[in-house]
Amino acid sequence: MTSTNKPSTRHVLTDADLSRATRLALLRTAFSAKHEGRLAAARPLAGRHAAIVMAKPSLRTRVSFTVAVHRLGGHTIEVGAHNTKLGKGEALEEWAAVLGRMVDLVVARVHAQAELDALAAHAQVPVVNALSDLWHPCQGLADAMTVWEAARLAGRPHAHDPAAFFEQPHRWAYVGDGNNVLHSLLWTAADLGVEIRAACPAGFEPDPAVVEAARSHHPRGAGGVVLLHDPREAVEGAEVVYTDTWISMGEESSKRPEDIEAVFAPYRVDAALLARAAEGAIFLHCLPATPGVECTTEVLRGPASRVLDQAENRLWTAMALLSDVVFDAQGGLP
Ligand code: CP
Ligand code: NVA
Repeated sequence: MTSTNKPSTRHVLTDADLSRATRLALLRTAFSAKHEGRLAAARPLAGRHAAIVMAKPSLRTRVSFTVAVHRLGGHTIEVGAHNTKLGKGEALEEWAAVLGRMVDLVVARVHAQAELDALAAHAQVPVVNALSDLWHPCQGLADAMTVWEAARLAGRPHAHDPAAFFEQPHRWAYVGDGNNVLHSLLWTAADLGVEIRAACPAGFEPDPAVVEAARSHHPRGAGGVVLLHDPREAVEGAEVVYTDTWISMGEESSKRPEDIEAVFAPYRVDAALLARAAEGAIFLHCLPATPGVECTTEVLRGPASRVLDQAENRLWTAMALLSDVVFDAQGGLP
């Protein structure tokens, strides 16, 4: 997958817009912002304005970016189809161009990735993907932080630094729907050299182009990005067991819950499935979760779960991303 970034822009439209070195640096900044107070006094966004565009509901992404901008000294304004004439009398071209003349940054959750690409092309200010049908790069960043943070706080070997940690062999498992969150996880794992095994029901596999791109990017090629149908095989020996909702936003009319339950029931993450993972394995879910559906309540809220750290890490990684990449406060472009 080719990066969508032009050298002069700092868009984060897909996970490929972050290089491995940048990703590792962002993990360090985010960890130290959370645990050591780094960025507490930083104001790289002083006098800057960010537009938050949410075409779909959001708790974590909306709040993390709003708070991140404010903590870094900037201001936010929420705009979209709900309070402007976007798509109902004003075309995206002019809408985005006008927005870009007034704000310094756009954080946008859209339906189709193509809308995000168009927004970036016309806004001419940095655009950050806050979730599209294809990608959720900010989630992938927080996921990697959560895995490394859990290892570091547990005093695991080589976990003092993310580069040293991700140089060791690791295996992650994803069980469930082959969606945007899985796409970003596949790319993140490939970028960090982590073996990832994803088990999805037939007909609900990830986009083949994304799988191919992740395999090409992975240092181990196709051996590093393994697609399966058997969830038990996927979680065998994994340090991370990850799932997401079976019905993503926008799919409500095309996926009937009773049909989905019939197909996906073997993919529910329960204690028995989790027990097949490596000792000390952690459970991740990007949230929002439907307890008792894609995972049991026992797993979601049990001792292996790191979902609340994972959600909180959306804030720290958003601050790192805005500070170090989008506004280049540390001089560290990808
Ligand atoms: N994980 C995530 O993106 O959550 P929201 O949909 O609440 O933003
Ligand atoms: N796959 C989910 C992720 C939500 C954060 C969705 O697109 O709705």
